[in-house]
Amino acid sequence: MRILITGSSGQIGTNLALRLLADGHEVFGIDKRRNTWTNAFPYLLQDLAGHYAPYPGGINGVEYPETDLVVHLAAHAKVHQLVGEPHRALENAVMTFNVLEYARQGNIPIVFSSSREVYGDVHRFEGYNEQVADFAYTESTYSASKIAGEAFIYSYARCYGLPYLVFRFSNVYGRYDNDLRRMVRVIPLFIHSMMRDEPITIYGGRDKTLDFTYVDDCVDGITRGIEALAEGRVVNQTINLAYGQGNTLVHCAERIAHELRVDAQMTLAPSLLGEVTHYVADLTKARELLGYDPRIPLDEGIARGVAWFKEHREEHPDEDVAVVADHERAQETGLGWKTAPV
Ligand SMILES: NC(=O)c1ccc[n+]([C@@H]2O[C@H](COP(=O)([O-])OP(=O)(O)OC[C@H]3O[C@@H](n4cnc5c(N)ncnc54)[C@H](O)[C@@H]3O)[C@@H](O)[C@H]2O)c1
Repeated sequence: MRILITGSSGQIGTNLALRLLADGHEVFGIDKRRNTWTNAFPYLLQDLAGHYAPYPGGINGVEYPETDLVVHLAAHAKVHQLVGEPHRALENAVMTFNVLEYARQGNIPIVFSSSREVYGDVHRFEGYNEQVADFAYTESTYSASKIAGEAFIYSYARCYGLPYLVFRFSNVYGRYDNDLRRMVRVIPLFIHSMMRDEPITIYGGRDKTLDFTYVDDCVDGITRGIEALAEGRVVNQTINLAYGQGNTLVHCAERIAHELRVDAQMTLAPSLLGEVTHYVADLTKARELLGYDPRIPLDEGIARGVAWFKEHREEHPDEDVAVVADHERAQETGLGWKTAPV
């Protein structure tokens, strides 16, 4: 297949593109940034968040290569950043609109990257199945952008017959995720800080429990979805992709410390505004529809992630510098902590 990936310079986009190439597909990427990880596939540098005129063969008058399926990953993907800069949440919705309009012109099936953030921070379920999402619990402007994206996708399916799959991801980690000067993600940040003998802060406290997904499992699920959608086996479905197990952030930090053979210097702090503090995915649908079977539990994934990080750091010693963490940004923007879950 000829697959177009938006957000192809990002963590999931890069991992997915390399997997699809290895499977024998053609990949064409679009991103507004250069890919700093690989030159293995062609891509176009384009900002997808503009208000553009109608476009038959590509966005903003650029003709894209012939495409069989679009995977739309491009987004501002950092929850707390979007609380501070809500116009970026609107840009996420605009990007999705542009990509949908392009897909509509050619009736090209689309895979959309949503998030477990659409469930809110409700603490009401053991495992969250796809049906329980309710926009009344919109936790942050980032969640709003993903709910809006999903709503656009569903409306295009109803109004124009555009085939889709929506995936709700959860804390993907493991490779091509440590460009901390661009985007601070919790697992690479903890590895980075502990390697520098710096303290870490656990926002959300001792009980904060999330479903961490090793990137190869996530990419395997997307790949299964791409094949099923293209063949018409699974169409117009919304599916959780995660590991399916809750782990506390404290446990995650302890495993990183264990792999690095250091003592973690941990401080517990209240949750940052907009963040979800409890989520465990119900994967019944992914298993039934796609045969999805995640293989890498957190402890194993952390071991792999730490090994990859250390190898990468040896090749890029210039990255061993202080990064601005979320709590410092929070203080800069004056947006602090949340009080209690809704
Ligand atoms: N990684 C996770 O844990 C996770 C969890 C839930 C949902 N998601 C979603 O999955 C998708 C991919 O996530 P990721 O972790 O790879 O994020 P990422 O930030 O690494 O990649 C997103 C890419 O989109 C690009 N982009 C942003 N604005 C753009 C614009 N205006 N025009 C063109 N490109 C633009 C960025 O440059 C970046 O390369 C995102 O939509 C994200 O919201 C990710």
